[in-house]
Amino acid sequence: MTKIIKISERNINFGKIKEAAKEIKKGRLVIFPTETVYGIGANAFDPKACREIFRVKKRAADNPLIVHISGFKQLDDVAYVNEETVNKLKKLWPGPITFVLKKKKVPDVVTAGLDTVAVRMPNNKIALALISESGTPIAAPSANISTFPSSTEAKHALADFNGKVSVIIDGGKSEFGIESTVIDISRKPYRLLRPGAFDVADISKIMGKIIIPKNINRPIKKGKPLSPGMKYRHYSPRKPLFLFNDINNMKKAYKFLLRKKVKFTVISPIEYSRYFKKTKTINLGSIKESKSISRNLFSAFRKLDEIDAEFGLISKIRLKSFDLAVRNRMEKAAGENQIKDMKSFFEAFDYYKDKY
Ligand code: TXA
Ligand code: MG
Repeated sequence: MTKIIKISERNINFGKIKEAAKEIKKGRLVIFPTETVYGIGANAFDPKACREIFRVKKRAADNPLIVHISGFKQLDDVAYVNEETVNKLKKLWPGPITFVLKKKKVPDVVTAGLDTVAVRMPNNKIALALISESGTPIAAPSANISTFPSSTEAKHALADFNGKVSVIIDGGKSEFGIESTVIDISRKPYRLLRPGAFDVADISKIMGKIIIPKNINRPIKKGKPLSPGMKYRHYSPRKPLFLFNDINNMKKAYKFLLRKKVKFTVISPIEYSRYFKKTKTINLGSIKESKSISRNLFSAFRKLDEIDAEFGLISKIRLKSFDLAVRNRMEKAAGENQIKDMKSFFEAFDYYKDKY
């Protein structure tokens, strides 16, 4: 049985936090809100509980978890960091940034046997209270079945994990809706491993130079990936999603598809929805507000799977913040269906045509 506990970040009920923390202490799984996405957590020092996360998420054992902490004392328990770096981290944490550091005695199951550990202090009062009340760092990946979109609302997590976790804390809609930025500072030069809810340029102002690998948004086919998470399919709806480089090509494809009478949907910012009036659209919010786009992205992918449509169209957009991160989620979610021009659209359409 999964118990849903509703807690408001503005008015935290510590009795309810205690109830959830008790489950963590008993070695059970608790899904909790963070400012990025929901996490599925267990006591980071309990290998058995952490193995259970991998099992219910169907996650590959070589993809390590992020360890969430509520204070700097816990940082000292999980990683080796010098004072100078700690002082910099204090300027960025709590926040949507994960740092990969040299690990201390964190169980191998959490770090997939690496000599490093990913650590984050989330900026969400419910998450921080849960970690502190549990008295231990909490290992938590995003609360979704592997390869599918992350959960940005408790109902998403319930759809994926009902009966498989002890508690889901419902803390409302995630503030950012995309995952944290992951940066490896365990060695120089510092390197971006995953773009996320904190722009790299702003992190560089505190941490110094950070290298952005050219292929950060592409799955690595050959060689060793910098981060295990890079090699897997990610964030994808179950239905095909066609990602257009150019909105004009998406308009052409839309007109073509209307003539074909197939059932499809368009995922679009409000500014573009007037081009697609004759079909169902899933609203992403306004381009002028980067956060509204990032907040709505994963629930839009989930909606595509729920509604009566065979596939979805989406186009790249330029955003003031999280531009790289939002593009990264779109590109990974679309997988092979990257529509560079009309030729690649017709190829993709032909490929799926018989399946409708
Ligand atoms: O916003 C977030 O980061 C959310 C919330 C719950 O905190 N968590 C999250 O976790 O997105 P997950 O497991 O879905 O993604 C963690 C990423 C993966 O790409 C993983 O490969 C990478 O971090 N990672 C973890 N430990 C690592 C390590 N020691 N070295 C390199 N990459 C690591
Ligand atoms: Mg994830």
